[in-house]
Amino acid sequence: MGYKTQRRRMFRTCLSFLAAHNNTLQSKARLLPLLNPNSPMSAGPSPAPFDPTDDPDEGLCADLDGCSLGDPSPPLPSLLIRRHLSGQVLVERAWEHWNQLGAPKLVVAPMVDNSELPFRMLCRKYGAEAAYTPMLHSRIFTETEKYRSMEFTTCKKLSGVKWCSYGIVELLLEIQKHFEDNFLISGSTRTKVLVLKPYRGVFRSYKLFKTFGDRPLFVQFCANDPDVLLEAAKIVEPYCDYVDINLGCPQRIARRGNYGAFLMDNLPLIKSLVQKLSQNLQVPVSCKIRIFPNLQDTLVYAKMLEEAGCSLLAVHGRTREEKDGKKFRADWNAIKAVKDAIRIPVLANGNIRHMQDVHDCLDYTGADGVLSAESLLENPALFAGYQTMEPTKDSSYEMENGVILDQSDLAIEYLKLCEQYPVPWRMIRSHVHKMLGDWFRIHPQVREELNAQSKLSFEWLHDMVKRLKDLGGAPALYGNGDIKSRAKANGVATCIS
Ligand SMILES: Cc1cc2nc3c(=O)[nH]c(=O)nc-3n(C[C@H](O)[C@H](O)[C@H](O)COP(=O)(O)O)c2cc1C
Repeated sequence: MGYKTQRRRMFRTCLSFLAAHNNTLQSKARLLPLLNPNSPMSAGPSPAPFDPTDDPDEGLCADLDGCSLGDPSPPLPSLLIRRHLSGQVLVERAWEHWNQLGAPKLVVAPMVDNSELPFRMLCRKYGAEAAYTPMLHSRIFTETEKYRSMEFTTCKKLSGVKWCSYGIVELLLEIQKHFEDNFLISGSTRTKVLVLKPYRGVFRSYKLFKTFGDRPLFVQFCANDPDVLLEAAKIVEPYCDYVDINLGCPQRIARRGNYGAFLMDNLPLIKSLVQKLSQNLQVPVSCKIRIFPNLQDTLVYAKMLEEAGCSLLAVHGRTREEKDGKKFRADWNAIKAVKDAIRIPVLANGNIRHMQDVHDCLDYTGADGVLSAESLLENPALFAGYQTMEPTKDSSYEMENGVILDQSDLAIEYLKLCEQYPVPWRMIRSHVHKMLGDWFRIHPQVREELNAQSKLSFEWLHDMVKRLKDLGGAPALYGNGDIKSRAKANGVATCIS
């Protein structure tokens, strides 16, 4: 699918958001048939160009079987009795919560149509320590069951371990392989100690500091009405670790709908959104912001959010006007200044293309973690240390001593996850284009064939990937020696079920 087609699809998805914000009968008549073909408002002449029921890409790739949400989880102890906390206590609770989640540093950024469950699971397997859902529209979420079930899916929360040493994971793998049911892992979330009883009766204890499955999870909403936002947030709070407010979307659709970065013109409204959630939810509220052109404005803004009850702040170091991430570098100085000015955990967003960027960004800004978006779409194994090989003087050394990951294998893994966790075909199409972009540049005829498929199937996609592999020639992802065990380690983690 060409870039323009993708933009058109994205635009069509966004139209539903726009429709929800225009309180006219006409916009509702467009919106409801879009989201719920059985709605009484869908009767009468339908606005054909906006009706996704005509478009196979809008359908789910498999049945959800009514299990899209996993189990609701009880709140962590740090979350109880949060109401009317203020100042220092809120900050302490914010850190307590963050640390209970294992202080995740490597985070999948929110991406409309792109940070959906199977993609999150793929990134988690390859090193991501937390993830955001795509932005959900709070009003549509409260009004439309079909929107909820199609756009928000997650899965069971699993307890597991993240080991201090990757060598230990190798050991665990071996034990698992040979003894399967004959070895015992038990753990206590209270003491945060895990007991591993391997064969020969030797007990060993390790620190337990992570939960698995689709957690930690930020569920992101856009909103401009505190009551509606709270209603939407209440639905998801048993399934997530933060409810996040999108204060950074710079698109025209957000301007017209009055949400995202356009709320920066109305800070009292932002304050009321944050306060409403922080005083009425058990899970903490987080915010994702863009910076103002003027640093002082950014700092006043960040402090206001903290005082209003925000427990974690993700700072995208670009202004509302700097929409094109490839054209404008994110301003790490501004992120550093925010981190220095407030006391809650801060995540840095922008310019993260590989693990060296992660280290540089954390060192430079002092942030508590990073978000990555566009680079992860091309390389979901980024957080496991893989990167595309740029020809440098070290390339030959890396090729001899490093490990190689084939992007087509990642695409296959993603497709399998989609079979397990169904999503609309449009999302799969978008990911396949991004993950196999390098291959398509070499074999554009295969891309054309994909674009020509109005109705996709897994069989067709698997076959397409196989044909691409047979044609060969695309650059692989490379990593240094310790990467393999790291990816494997995360693989083990997601498999404990
Ligand atoms: C396809 C796509 C969809 C996005 N959707 C969202 C979204 O739903 N919510 C949000 O806060 N930001 C969204 N963003 C912005 C990213 O989260 C991130 O802030 C931005 O891309 C900068 O990070 P990067 O430099 O790593 O790409 C999106 C970005 C992309 C590329």
